[in-house]
Amino acid sequence: MKGLILCAGKGSRLYPFTRNRPKTLIPVANTPLLQLSIVKLLEQGIREVGIVIHPSQESDIRSHFGEGEALGVAITYIYQHEPKGIADAVKQAQAFIAEEAFLLLLGDNLISAPLTALKRDIELGGVQASLLLAEVAAPKDYGIAEIRESRIVGLEEKPAIPKSKLAVLGAYAFTPEIFHAVHRIRPSKRGEYEITDAIQCLIDHGHVVTYHVTDQLNLDVGTMDRWLQANERLLGEEAQGNRIHESVVLENCTITQPVAIDKNSVLKNCHIGPYVSIGAEAKLMNCRIADSIVLNGVHLENLPSPLRNVIIGSHSIIAGVFTHGEVKDV
Ligand code: G1P
Repeated sequence: MKGLILCAGKGSRLYPFTRNRPKTLIPVANTPLLQLSIVKLLEQGIREVGIVIHPSQESDIRSHFGEGEALGVAITYIYQHEPKGIADAVKQAQAFIAEEAFLLLLGDNLISAPLTALKRDIELGGVQASLLLAEVAAPKDYGIAEIRESRIVGLEEKPAIPKSKLAVLGAYAFTPEIFHAVHRIRPSKRGEYEITDAIQCLIDHGHVVTYHVTDQLNLDVGTMDRWLQANERLLGEEAQGNRIHESVVLENCTITQPVAIDKNSVLKNCHIGPYVSIGAEAKLMNCRIADSIVLNGVHLENLPSPLRNVIIGSHSIIAGVFTHGEVKDV
């Protein structure tokens, strides 16, 4: 099986953070989102990965991942020139996928559930698509599945009146049959070629579409709040928590786990954590931070009040006047 990760979206809901960098490179617990997706595919033994990007993203993404050598995958970059939807992005990848089955991941989704069941359904044969579903609080924001007698009978993209609360998450398994469907469908009302319409087309033509419902937390990291939530979640997972790079200098600091601090950062007289990630080359002095994301190269000095639930953009400088000799409690 091959893997396909879609990254071409603009990420406008995360402006200004994504104005100059692709959304899929934003760090969660100091690891770029896209790397988390690649690792997810690797866990399934997939080593041939196509990444769909807009040409403007190529140098940023390539400078991080190259051809995938460091992660042990072979990456092929595929262009989507216009944001015409997920099904259109899949269409661009047809030559790369060729006659194989594949796992498709939306690069801005942080999926916790393992993809084993989706892959197994396809490998057993007789199934053309397998989906991951989860009950969500706001079904109008998702592709929604209608299920009768344990079978998906309909899929609707962001319905005004949802027929269920079961949302299609950003992880799918397909056989190449999906390419017939993505060529058949028409653009939706929002002008995009919807993957939900392509899957509906498979169902309408008598193909078998299976699903697995997960109750694990899965996040579409498309907004600031969900970015913070994703950061908290990943830091909370044992393997990701407390990753303080060996080059980090901590002087007179109190660290409340879990936190991640990247290389060459220097912290003096600070209270950090819980759930804080700090990028590389940051300099923090006399401040308190909890539940926050601090990107690379930030300078924070003498902050009179604690910071909580904030995202501080790379190379920002924030300095206060330090008068009382101590930073207040969070
Ligand atoms: C896309 C899909 C939608 C799916 C969602 C999962 O939506 O179109 O079917 O439920 O991802 O995050 P969008 O990227 O427009 O939010």
